[in-house]
Amino acid sequence: MINVENLSKHYGAFTALDGVSFHVATGRVVGFLGANGAGKTTTLRILSCFMPPSAGMATVGGFDTVRASDDVRRLIGYMPESVPLYGDMRVVEYLRFRARLKGVASDCVSAALERVISQCHLQEKRRSLIRALSKGQRQRVGLADALIHDPRLLILDEPTSGLDPDQRVEVRSLIAALAGEHTVLLSTHILPEAEASCSDVIIIHKGRIAASTSIAEVTGGEQRWRVRVADRDYAVTTGASAAGTLTRWDSAEAASQHAAREVSAGRVLLEVGPEKRTLEDLFMSVVAERIPTP
Ligand SMILES: Nc1ncnc2c1ncn2[C@@H]1O[C@H](COP(=O)(O)OP(=O)(O)OP(=O)(O)O)[C@@H](O)[C@H]1O
Ligand SMILES: [Mg+2]
Repeated sequence: MINVENLSKHYGAFTALDGVSFHVATGRVVGFLGANGAGKTTTLRILSCFMPPSAGMATVGGFDTVRASDDVRRLIGYMPESVPLYGDMRVVEYLRFRARLKGVASDCVSAALERVISQCHLQEKRRSLIRALSKGQRQRVGLADALIHDPRLLILDEPTSGLDPDQRVEVRSLIAALAGEHTVLLSTHILPEAEASCSDVIIIHKGRIAASTSIAEVTGGEQRWRVRVADRDYAVTTGASAAGTLTRWDSAEAASQHAAREVSAGRVLLEVGPEKRTLEDLFMSVVAERIPTP
C-alpha cells in the first residue's frame, strides 16, 4: 500500500529526512515511532501530498505522491498533528463541507456523516460550533474528517494525543475495527498503545529508519530471566523495588543459580522471574541517547 524509497527532506540547510525507505503492506496497522523532531510528521506530510520530498519517492496504492497526488488523496484519510478546523462552523456543517470537498457523491453524504459521527462519538456535539469544542472533541472531529470518504489508507499523526483515557480506548478500538480492510499508519509517543493496537512498528531516529519490525517479533522471541539483588542496608533504607542490581539470564536455571549465590553471599533478593520484552525496550535501545556525565 505504501512504498517509500530513499526519501529525503531538507528545510533550508537542515536535513529532516535522510534516505528514508520503508514498506507498508495492505491491511496492516503500523505505528510510526520516534522522539520529538525525529521526522514523523515530515514523512506523513509527504505521504499525504502536503509537500514534496527533496529527493527520493513515495507511492501510495501504486500512485506517486508528487505526480499522481489527486489519486493518492482519494485513497487516504489524513489526520494532521494539529487539526485545522473552522471555528465558526458547526460540526455537521464542517463534516458535510469536507465530504463534498473530498468528492463524496451528494446522495451518499448524509450516510457518510452519520457513520463518522457515530464512529467518533460526536452525537452530542453535532450542532456545536467548532470553536466551542474541547481539545479532545476537536481531535475527534479531525478523525471524523479523515474517515468521511471511507479511505483505504488512514494516516494519523498522533491520533490519541489530548484524548482522555476513555476516548483513547475508543479510538484504539475504532482503529482495530478498521484494520484488515483498511491500512493504517499512525504516529504516537505512547509505546504501550502502539504495542496494543499496531501489527508493526517503524522507528525513525534523526531522519533515518532505525528499526522496522512486527510487534510479534518485538515481544516474542527468546525469553530472558531477571534477577534483582540489593545490598542489605541499601534495600532496607530505600525500600524501592527498582533499587539494587539487575542481571539478565538466558535460562531459569542460570537465574536461580545466580539468585542462590547472591543470597548465600548475604545480599537481599528483590526480584527473580521471567522478563517480557516490550516495545519500550526496543525503542530505548534504538533511540535513547546517552546523556554525558559531567
Ligand atoms: N517547516 C519547517 N521548517 C524548518 N524545519 C522544520 C520544519 N518542519 C519541521 N522541521 C524540523 O524537522 C525536524 C523533524 O520535524 P517533524 O515535525 O517531522 O518531527 P516529529 O517526528 O513529527 O516530532 P514530534 O514528535 O515533536 O511531532 C525537526 O527538527 C523540525 O524542527
Ligand atoms: Mg510530529
